[in-house]
Amino acid sequence: MKALDLLLLCALFSVKILAMPAAKAEDQSDITDTVQPTRAVDIVLSCFYIEEGGGHMGMFVSGFTRDPATLVLHGIHVPDSEALDSFTDYVPPPDASDETMIFEALVSSVPVPEAESLLHADCNGQEITCEISRYYPQEVEEKDENGPVTEEPAAESDNEPAWFISSLQVSGGGVSVTLVMKTQPITKSENENLSRKQKKLDLLLGTMGTLLLSVEFAVYTRMPSIHTSIGQSVQLDCGFTEGNSTAEKISVEWRLQHKGIGRRIYTYKDGEGIADRPGTQMELQNVILKRNASLFLSNFEIKDEGTYICIVYATRYHAQQVMQALIMEPPHVQLIPSVLYLQPHAPMRATCDIGHYYPLDVEVMWLKQLPGDEEKPTPVSGTSFSSHRQNRDGTYSVSSYIWIQPLSHSEEPIPTYMCQVAHITLQEPSTVTLVIQMSEESIPLGMLGLLAAACLIMVGVGVLMCRAPKTKSKVQ
Ligand SMILES: *[C@@H]1O[C@H](CO)[C@@H](O)[C@H](O)[C@H]1NC(C)=O
Repeated sequence: MKALDLLLLCALFSVKILAMPAAKAEDQSDITDTVQPTRAVDIVLSCFYIEEGGGHMGMFVSGFTRDPATLVLHGIHVPDSEALDSFTDYVPPPDASDETMIFEALVSSVPVPEAESLLHADCNGQEITCEISRYYPQEVEEKDENGPVTEEPAAESDNEPAWFISSLQVSGGGVSVTLVMKTQPITKSENENLSRKQKKLDLLLGTMGTLLLSVEFAVYTRMPSIHTSIGQSVQLDCGFTEGNSTAEKISVEWRLQHKGIGRRIYTYKDGEGIADRPGTQMELQNVILKRNASLFLSNFEIKDEGTYICIVYATRYHAQQVMQALIMEPPHVQLIPSVLYLQPHAPMRATCDIGHYYPLDVEVMWLKQLPGDEEKPTPVSGTSFSSHRQNRDGTYSVSSYIWIQPLSHSEEPIPTYMCQVAHITLQEPSTVTLVIQMSEESIPLGMLGLLAAACLIMVGVGVLMCRAPKTKSKVQ
């Protein structure tokens, strides 16, 4: 069943991913650190083109419009494998009109990062969210580096290039890639009299009726979501690819956004790093050598939680990746007492202690089950709670109380009580079972009345004595 599902998925996948028959001979020289031959494939993604400004969606005037679009990442080099054998080149649909939006990113000097993850997402049962919008690079002749980013007017004339930014996100915490793409010049031979244009974008189309682009800059992360425990070291993954900027032209800013407040955590500029949060580091030489802008935070605490933004600036372009870093501490669940000795006449209180968990939301339920009962345990009503206590390290604790009534007659079966705790850190609720024993179990029935009376008289010590026969070590 599972295998069949996968086959079906991969069959669907083969329709979408089309590969060139074999890598060209000259491509072999590119392979330096791996022996495995690569093959060029086309990755085809269904996207939305997002445009700001009062478009009409149905009856409503919205702040932006969403139009279906296709993004073709053309000639992506991936390790060769037989699974790719049946694939062919991408062919645009024959019914494409001047309203169809096909963005075709050609191979360029800037590789698409994490292409393999994008290629195999379908087969791994993941989805890729893809959004494309206009991008306006910084003007080249910048005099004041710290000046505000000036936006070029949209390049609508035929010879002017236009830029787009696309953000690709693999579902389930997979990779996230942002690509900055630039339109390619279109010649008269490719487009008769330069007349064929994409209607909405007012841009010239290539021979195949697609918008031809080159990837100019990319920022990506392999870990858009991180869960950690208090005091741990955390690595926030951020990398980039770009053409030919020199070291001086690269700068990186890391920011933390939490509960509406944003602050700078780290800055990399001119080959140097400045940490605004103590215990924050970047491997400086790797920024230029490996295009790696990952950040390392030691002793991660509750106050470090939030949304981290890695912004990479390279000459004309800048783009960012967003990462969530959250603390996850599972609750420690404990019953007090762990064995409850039921008294014949007085209800007894049991406490379920739920300690040192984070985040705050926790669900506690008491369940009751009779011995030999095949049915599911039933929830117990009338339980009470302490208020949440926040511990020194920021984690939370709470207690839940239950009163257990004495049995109405000695033959009544002793029920089992359970404290069940659900928390985001637990795949399944954590359940602890309360052991209940009759305090007078071993005592002959005739003696019961007498003993009870004795217990009542010797209020202080009596209780202990009544428990004593079975519980020497457990009585407190
Ligand atoms: C950056 O380097 C670290 C090790 O220093 C590595 O774990 C991480 O995967 C690298 N990230 C990128 C995007 O290259």
